[in-house]
Amino acid sequence: MTTPDSMRRVLVTGAAGYIGSHACMRLIESGCRVVGLDDLSRGHRGATRALESAASRAPGEFEFVEGSIADRTGTVELLTDRRIEVVMHFAAFAYVGESVERPLLYYDNNAGGACRLLQAVEEAGVPRFVFSSTCATYGEPPEDRIPIAEDCPQSPINPYGRSKLMVERMLEDRVEAARTAGTPFAATMLRYFNVAGSDPEGRVGEDHRPETHLIPICLEVAAGRREALVIHGDDYPTPDGTCIRDYVHVVDLVDAHLAVMDAMKDGELRRYNVGLGHGWSVREVLESCRRVTGRDIPATMGPRRPGDPPTLFANASSIGRDLDWSPRFTDLDETVATAWRWMQANPSGYGAD
Ligand code: UFG
Repeated sequence: MTTPDSMRRVLVTGAAGYIGSHACMRLIESGCRVVGLDDLSRGHRGATRALESAASRAPGEFEFVEGSIADRTGTVELLTDRRIEVVMHFAAFAYVGESVERPLLYYDNNAGGACRLLQAVEEAGVPRFVFSSTCATYGEPPEDRIPIAEDCPQSPINPYGRSKLMVERMLEDRVEAARTAGTPFAATMLRYFNVAGSDPEGRVGEDHRPETHLIPICLEVAAGRREALVIHGDDYPTPDGTCIRDYVHVVDLVDAHLAVMDAMKDGELRRYNVGLGHGWSVREVLESCRRVTGRDIPATMGPRRPGDPPTLFANASSIGRDLDWSPRFTDLDETVATAWRWMQANPSGYGAD
C-alpha cells in the first residue's frame, strides 16, 4: 500500500486497548495513516480487526503491529520505517488496586516502558508526543482545589498515579533538553478524568478483564452477568453520600488528542485536564444506567474502597480555551447508552480475543 505524503502518520501505542482503539478509529476517520502498536497483554486482537475493517471504508489507513514499547530497537525501526510524525502513547496498566499490590509491575511497564519509548522517539527524531496521563496524578486534592485545575499540586496516592507522574516529569525534562539543543520536539500530557462510553457506531468498545469501573459494572448487572452492584460507601461528604466523578465520553477524549496533535509547536510542553467540569455521584450513575437499560439493576451497600477520594471533577477550561475543545456528550444517559449498545451487541466483549 502506498501512503500519500499528505497523510498524517501517527503511531498509537496500546492500540488494542479501550482508549487506544477509539483513538485509532477517530484518526482513521480523519484521514490519518495509523500504525497501531500493542503487545496484546491486555488489549484485544478483536479491536485491531475492527480497526482494520473500519479502515477499509474510511479515508485513513490502519496497520497493526504486535510488539512492545519496551523493545527500543524494534520501536526505532518502526518509527523510522513508517516515517511517523506523531506518537500517541496509551499503552499502560491502569488498575489502581493492582498497582498497590504489584507496584514494580507498574513502575516497570508504565514508567520504564515510557522511558524506552521516549528514547526510541528521540533516536528516530519524531517531533510530536501525546501522553495519556490521569487525574490520579493529583491524588486527593483539598476541597478548595475542586474543580481541579492543571496547576493543582500533584501528589498521587498510589503507584499507578506515581508511575504516570514520573512520565510527566520525563516529558518535562525531554522538552527542556530539546529546547536547549534547538531540536524539534513538543509534547502534551492529557490528564483524563473518568473515561466512559463507547464508539457510537458500536465498532469498538470497552472490554476490561477484570472489569472494575462503575458504568460497565452497572451494565453487566443489567445484562444479567452479575447479581448486583456493590456501592463502595455512602458515608462520604457529598450530597447523597456516594463519590462524585467526572465522566467524559471516550470519543470526546480522543477528539482532544486530535485537536492537540495539530496545535503543538516545537519547544512546547502542554498539560490539559480532559473532563466535563462537573460530576455525578455513584447513585446518579446507577439511576442513569437504570433509565437507559430499562432494567432494575439491584445494588447493595458495601464499605468504602481504599483510596477513593470523595469528589473529583475537572476544571477543563484550559483545553476549551486553547484548542476550542468542548465535549459533545454532556448528557450522562447518552454516554451510558453508547456503552450499553456495545455491550448488548457484544455480550462477551471481544470474546476469546
Ligand atoms: N464504584 C462502586 N462500585 C463498583 C465500582 C466503582 O461504588 O463496583 C465507585 C467507586 O468507588 C468510585 C466510582 O464508582 O467512587 C467510580 O469508580 P471507577 O472505578 O469507575 O473509577 P475511578 O474513579 O476509581 O477510577 C478512575 C480511572 C482510573 C484512575 C482514577 C483516578 O478509571 O484509571 O479514576 O482517581 F486512576
